[in-house]
Amino acid sequence: MSDTHLSADDQKRIAAEAALDHVKDGMKLGLGTGSTAAHFVTALGRKAKEEGLTLSCVPTSEATADLAAQVGLTVKTLDDEPHLDLTVDGADEVGPHLTLIKGGGGALLREKIVAFASTQMIVIADESKVVPLLGNFPLPIEVVPFGAQTTGNRILESGKLFGCEGAIALRTDEFGEPFCTDSNNFIYDWALGEIPDPDGLGTYLARLPGVVEHGLFLGIAHSVLVGKADGTVETLRR
Ligand code: A5P
Repeated sequence: MSDTHLSADDQKRIAAEAALDHVKDGMKLGLGTGSTAAHFVTALGRKAKEEGLTLSCVPTSEATADLAAQVGLTVKTLDDEPHLDLTVDGADEVGPHLTLIKGGGGALLREKIVAFASTQMIVIADESKVVPLLGNFPLPIEVVPFGAQTTGNRILESGKLFGCEGAIALRTDEFGEPFCTDSNNFIYDWALGEIPDPDGLGTYLARLPGVVEHGLFLGIAHSVLVGKADGTVETLRR
């Protein structure tokens, strides 16, 4: 038996480093947001420098764009590179069949747009993120500020149709003001405990006026690299 017991942050780091094996010279890459994705961006910058790789990188947030530029990566937009080979991103939860909850870092809209523009999406995560059923992590939902209260009420009502119940909270920043996304929207965090029908709920939410995007990523991830406390990295496939 191994004595190794990696911290959650080290598990994120080894998952991020394992994702480097999927990066080839000349690739167009989507870069995720969050602490796990930050490990990947840093390691990618190092690898690109050491191996002299030519990569075009589209970040999913301003924070990731800043980090990517700092580590010497070539930062592009989706307008420059409408089609990407691979996106590597973190997740808040990884459920059955590689369903995901994302958006804890507030970047879910750009993350979903970038993942959709990619041939492949690889998720990197520490082992605490893997769950038998989605929903313990509050579901982030990005809404237009206009009529946010009304949209929040509609969201709550929709839960009843899909066996979901729980409090909804407008995300706030460190000053107690509504948190504003990179696209100037608000975010609701919906504490559901469990989401028995992610497909049904996701489809319904996407059709609600005022909802810009929700944090359910269904059928999008191709594989998940899970860094484990014992120092190994497990690959989950759909
Ligand atoms: C950002 O909006 C999120 O989707 C992140 O990918 C997610 O919150 C994972 O974050 P950590 O890697 O920091 O756990």
